[in-house]
Amino acid sequence: YFIGFDLGSSSVKASLVNAESGTAVASAFFPQTEMAIEAPQPGFAEQQPENWWINACLASKSVLQKANVRPEDVKAIGISYQMHGLVVVDKAFNVLRPSIIWCDSRAVPFGNRAFDDLGHDRTLQHLLNSPGNFTAAKLAWVKANEPDVYAEVHKFMLPGDYLAARMTGEIVTTASGLSEGVLWDFQADQPAQFLLDYYGFDSSLMATLKPTFAPQGELTASAASELGLAAGTPVTYRAGDQPNNAFSLNVLEPGQIAATAGTSGVVYGVSDQLSYDPKSRVNTFLHVSHTSAAPRYGVLMCVNGTGILNSWLRNQVLRRSIGYDEMNVLAHEAPVGADGLICLPFGNGAERILENADLGASFHGLQLTRHGLPHFIRAAQEGIVFAFYYGIQVMESVGVGLQTIRAGEANMFLSPLFRDTLANLTGAAIELYNTDGAQGAARGAGLGLGYYKNAQEAFAGLHVVKTIEPDMRAQEGYRDAYGRWLETLARS
Ligand code: XUL
Repeated sequence: YFIGFDLGSSSVKASLVNAESGTAVASAFFPQTEMAIEAPQPGFAEQQPENWWINACLASKSVLQKANVRPEDVKAIGISYQMHGLVVVDKAFNVLRPSIIWCDSRAVPFGNRAFDDLGHDRTLQHLLNSPGNFTAAKLAWVKANEPDVYAEVHKFMLPGDYLAARMTGEIVTTASGLSEGVLWDFQADQPAQFLLDYYGFDSSLMATLKPTFAPQGELTASAASELGLAAGTPVTYRAGDQPNNAFSLNVLEPGQIAATAGTSGVVYGVSDQLSYDPKSRVNTFLHVSHTSAAPRYGVLMCVNGTGILNSWLRNQVLRRSIGYDEMNVLAHEAPVGADGLICLPFGNGAERILENADLGASFHGLQLTRHGLPHFIRAAQEGIVFAFYYGIQVMESVGVGLQTIRAGEANMFLSPLFRDTLANLTGAAIELYNTDGAQGAARGAGLGLGYYKNAQEAFAGLHVVKTIEPDMRAQEGYRDAYGRWLETLARS
């Protein structure tokens, strides 16, 4: 067996994959309620790394128990994690402050200043992104605002690097990981020294580089006992949750597109060209690649406020009085375009597709005699899809083609309305697969261990469970509604 962990924003999931058959045998996630995201000030978003660890241990023990698998039968560990976050530790590996996570907007001005000072053209050619709101800018915020903390920093790392280090005692990262912190120089094919110099970061603060698919350390005795696994089990794969989601769906080559719609939503295409959006509304990072052949790049558009808007509606407005399935049924009582009720879903921090603007979420055009709860639910889901489509159009402008969209059957992709709206608006078919990020990470562990020789072997257990074909006769109605949404966005 291989075990995969997916360190998300709302929970940590663990899945076991049977090595031989390549099929998933069990999964477990903790906590059952959502993990807290703390916002000590508006625009801030923090989580406690200790909380990630506790939930990883619970998920690990639970999945082994469910599948009745012995610790020594788990041969390798893979890790997928929420991207762009910052964890800082001192020499004794104590966490120095809560993690500043991906949707925290405090560091936007630091990234923007670096962009201006270093020059837009040079920065984009080397980093393919504006330093925007990624890990490096977050560390710059700590350096400027918490000098006492910064003075103690021995290493900074991404959330997944921290989880792996808790397991193995080794602080390592990957080139793909550095690229998601906008710390990878694509021209020099090495860490971005000019950005480290600009911020005044000593390069000794960086974790050691390892390949994505390779032994990256072994479980210590104490970590093994907390996880319910065997000491010495190697970590052989790690990747950010979006490249990992693409990998999980066997999206490795140009022409393929993967999507997720959990807390945040992402559409991810693969390119063999160093392409970037001059406005950094979509981002290019290093994709995971298990051969040393030509590198592949992941071009992604991210909408921070995706499933988190839908869960906010359910938890805060509906007070959990109905479930998601019932919400999806109710949404169909309103027509396409929600009778003019429009939702901008951007309520989870600065949005990259809006050039890092912190717009907030909003509903527009409410008429009390016309609109009811179904309109709200529909407008929210449509607003998310419209934001996706806006990002997809930017992706197309940098050369990413869109034929079919692959996704796991989870989160917003469980909603027929969400799926139909996306398919009809884009004109692309959606293929839903029987997988998730934790399963993908487990298969990645099998590749990193060398048990699987290639992706074909690793994905023997992956199947399409449902295909949603676009209804082209309906497209005009969806495009009209999108046009109204776009006008509202332009006015906001
Ligand atoms: C991707 C992004 C989010 C996080 C969520 O670029 O910012 O999807 O990865 O964990």
